[in-house]
Amino acid sequence: MELRPPRGTLDLLPPQGSRIRALYDRAAALARLHGYRYVETPGFEATELFSATSGETSDVVTKEMYTFADRKGRSLTLRPEGTAPVMRAYLGAMQEQPSPFKAYYLTRMYRYSRPQEGRYREHRQFGIEVFGTEDPGADAEVITVGDAFLRGLGLTRIELQLNSIGDEVCRPAYRDELVAFLQDNRDRLTDEHKDRFQDNPLRVLDCKDDACRAVAREAPRITERLCDPCRTHFEGVHAGLKEAGLSWTIEPTLVRGLDYYTRTAFEFVSPGLSLQQATLFGGGRYDGLAEVLGGPHVPGVGFGMGLERVLLALEQEGIGAPEEPGLAVFVVGVGDAGRARAHDLVRELREAGLAADTSFEDRPLKAQLKMADRAGAAYAAIVGERELETGSVTLRRMSDGDQREIAAGRLVGTLAEGRAEGTDG
Ligand code: HAM
Repeated sequence: MELRPPRGTLDLLPPQGSRIRALYDRAAALARLHGYRYVETPGFEATELFSATSGETSDVVTKEMYTFADRKGRSLTLRPEGTAPVMRAYLGAMQEQPSPFKAYYLTRMYRYSRPQEGRYREHRQFGIEVFGTEDPGADAEVITVGDAFLRGLGLTRIELQLNSIGDEVCRPAYRDELVAFLQDNRDRLTDEHKDRFQDNPLRVLDCKDDACRAVAREAPRITERLCDPCRTHFEGVHAGLKEAGLSWTIEPTLVRGLDYYTRTAFEFVSPGLSLQQATLFGGGRYDGLAEVLGGPHVPGVGFGMGLERVLLALEQEGIGAPEEPGLAVFVVGVGDAGRARAHDLVRELREAGLAADTSFEDRPLKAQLKMADRAGAAYAAIVGERELETGSVTLRRMSDGDQREIAAGRLVGTLAEGRAEGTDG
């Protein structure tokens, strides 16, 4: 039996498991702090949901979807992204939900692509979405939450790239102009785009290939061709970001890889990482998405952040990733009586809300101390013959082996108050 996980997927055992868990916890706390509420949608959806919203010419739809027929022959797709599913769910239950609707999710996404560092077939996203307002303040808030998340982890080498890609009023004329420009420069494009730029010329601007990027740099710029409402909106986003103390660069070729975007598009990149994995999170506004799904006009804005990439960026900057708190104490009971006592203590500790564990089996002191170490416990509390006689426990700080004896009845109190750090007992 093959023990490695399928290509492009990760097993997250400790300590990686506790790192991703810590990111989930921080993300949830931050989202809640800003008034976002947790949502979940199914891991698979009708294929049409993604093909109709991400765009028939997008990489996600043309190459990356995990699509299968179920037993009744329905075409289903493992969720490659979170925005369309959350919008679908919201449209089905709008009457019961507040407006604006502010949601966050922490979940896995599936995209079939060539795996490499920072690009997986299953990845984890922290996403937030605001439905029901066109106010540029919502765009600024969304960006600010993502920025706060990354900075809260200690990341500093991150850069906000911002663009506006217009709307149904100003984009068609821009699109025509871009097609004409690409026609003139067709020879310089990669083969893939030579044939396909007519279908979706914006895709060329998003291409990471050097040749296409050179063409993209010279292409007409959408930011100079926005209609008045789009320009005013974009200025509103700038004002909101400025108020929040953020800085950014305008990136006129930033168009994003999914088709539902209108107006604001943004990405946070970590210049230390290679181009393919540099985008820690991306998002933007999608004011036409609800209508594509047959709903009323529900404007929206949000982001999706790749959490594996966040871990890579932390590593790159030499910052320790946060970890889920480990055991407060591993109780070592030696001998039958010692183990019985250890079980009582563990129960007491857990009832007091302190993470505690002990061995299932009788093992020598040394072996149990090793277990305490491997479990990542801050302390070991040892109950041997001597401690049983005197009604005490020996509290051993695992980081440096510092030991002292305290009354068994004071174990919970000592650990709960964090007094265990001191040496005065
Ligand atoms: P996206 O740019 O396709 O946008 O993905 C968002 C983030 O997910 C990326 O910036 C990246 O960090 C991570 N990511 C994407 N694909 C992979 C992969 N194969 N391996 C590892 N990480 C990956 C969306 O998905 C939109 N739904 C974001 C959004 C929300 N826009 C508005 N609201």
